[in-house]
Amino acid sequence: SSADGIRHFLDLRDHDSATLRAILDVARSVKAMQHGRERPLHPAQPLAGRTLGLMLSKPSTRTRLSFEIGMRQLGGTVSVLSPGDMQIGRGESLADTARVLSRFLDVLVVRTGDTEMIRELVRWSTIPIVNGLTPDSHPVQILADIMTFEEHRGAVGGTHWAWVGDGNNVAVSLIEGAVRFGFSLTLATPPSMQPREEVLEWARREGGAIRLVHDPVEAVRDAQCIVTDTWTSMSDRESADRLATLEPYRVDTHLMQKAAPQALFMHCLPAHIGEEVTQDVFESPASVVFDEAENRLHAQKGLLLWVLGGVRWQRFGHAS
Ligand code: CP
Ligand code: NVA
Repeated sequence: SSADGIRHFLDLRDHDSATLRAILDVARSVKAMQHGRERPLHPAQPLAGRTLGLMLSKPSTRTRLSFEIGMRQLGGTVSVLSPGDMQIGRGESLADTARVLSRFLDVLVVRTGDTEMIRELVRWSTIPIVNGLTPDSHPVQILADIMTFEEHRGAVGGTHWAWVGDGNNVAVSLIEGAVRFGFSLTLATPPSMQPREEVLEWARREGGAIRLVHDPVEAVRDAQCIVTDTWTSMSDRESADRLATLEPYRVDTHLMQKAAPQALFMHCLPAHIGEEVTQDVFESPASVVFDEAENRLHAQKGLLLWVLGGVRWQRFGHAS
């Protein structure tokens, strides 16, 4: 949150462990309500009268659907904004756009290829802004991933995870998640694709158990969860060089066998089968990728209830 008490959600590191844990507790309880046969779906409609804006400058399937459907299921409404159709495209400033959107909406989710854009919106906005992915981080994904791990394997604290591949935006948020939720993480990336130094320094200051290696086999040793992601993110230029550099980092059956017994496989999706992961791992019982995708919805609902806060949050058992 910002100094003025607005509950922005820009990165996991901005929030203490108790807040993040509470968001996941609420996510789990709203998921149980949805799956429970006896109870109707969110009878309280806790976000009735609230409107979410979704401003997406980059393609999205899961982020868009999970926020859109989650908001509706909680009783709120949604306005999907494509920057190309807004006056931003004709030069209206972010400062003015943020101040106008603040008069209409209750919360704004932003996906952008330009991290500075989200900072500028936060500077001017009087409503909470949620990071729906930037080239630098993807915090809402990691909430869903931790929720998914705990559904399959119990408490995440004290476990060991491995990241294999490009040290990208999702890897950065996973580092922040590991620090905040108290698990250790070893990342195997090519030397040229390590997560940016600034997040590693932050993790060290926080006392996080984050290790960087270049050998995937070393990274997955004793890991209970193996995570990877595309070799070409939306912010990357596709190149044969990139793919060649990442070639030794494919998650295949051989690599999974070097992990802890019963290790899970995670991927935020969309996947590129045959690049970062083989078909057999992707389709194996270890793979929980579609649970992760579903949990985007539940995690987003927990997050929206926290962001919009107050009485509605307390109704789910949390003091605001
Ligand atoms: N994992 C994820 O954020 O997916 P989308 O790009 O489809 O939103
Ligand atoms: N690292 C990927 C994640 C997509 C959800 C990207 O930024 O394109």
